[in-house]
Amino acid sequence: MNVLLTPARIGTVEIRNRIVMPPMTTRLSDEDGHVTDDTVNYYMARVQGGVGLVTVEMASPTKAGRHRRRELGIYDDRFLPGLARLTAAIRAGGATPASTSAARRRWRRRRSPIRCSRSPTRPSSPRR
Ligand SMILES: Cc1cc2nc3c(=O)[nH]c(=O)nc-3n(C[C@H](O)[C@H](O)[C@H](O)COP(=O)(O)O)c2cc1C
Repeated sequence: MNVLLTPARIGTVEIRNRIVMPPMTTRLSDEDGHVTDDTVNYYMARVQGGVGLVTVEMASPTKAGRHRRRELGIYDDRFLPGLARLTAAIRAGGATPASTSAARRRWRRRRSPIRCSRSPTRPSSPRR
């Protein structure tokens, strides 16, 4: 039997096989960051291809931490309906969704395609 195609468990989460899709930025969100039909179709093609764990592309937990235009938005509740639609579709296809969050630390005004009025957020200093 091919072990790759056997179910796996991470904590309490059962995954249908051991094929993991790494996070890959798609820029298929709309300009604001909402999930679009293209976003859902992109992930569903991978789910139908047999992926077990779908790591959804990088998204910033703060507006100022976004990395690029049309990045998936997770920094406001207004994105929840689209994100819920995406995760429900992935689950309905038999796969398991996972997420990646990351915020850019440095603000390069000249090069950045993103314009917003907030200061970037950075991690707090490590405590001992
Ligand atoms: C087009 C492209 C987009 C990517 N987007 C992300 C991303 O959104 N978040 C992330 O953590 N890694 C991203 N990556 C990195 C991939 O997840 C990484 O290449 C993958 O985990 C394979 O790692 P490896 O080269 O060490 O095997 C991206 C890579 C590519 C080629």
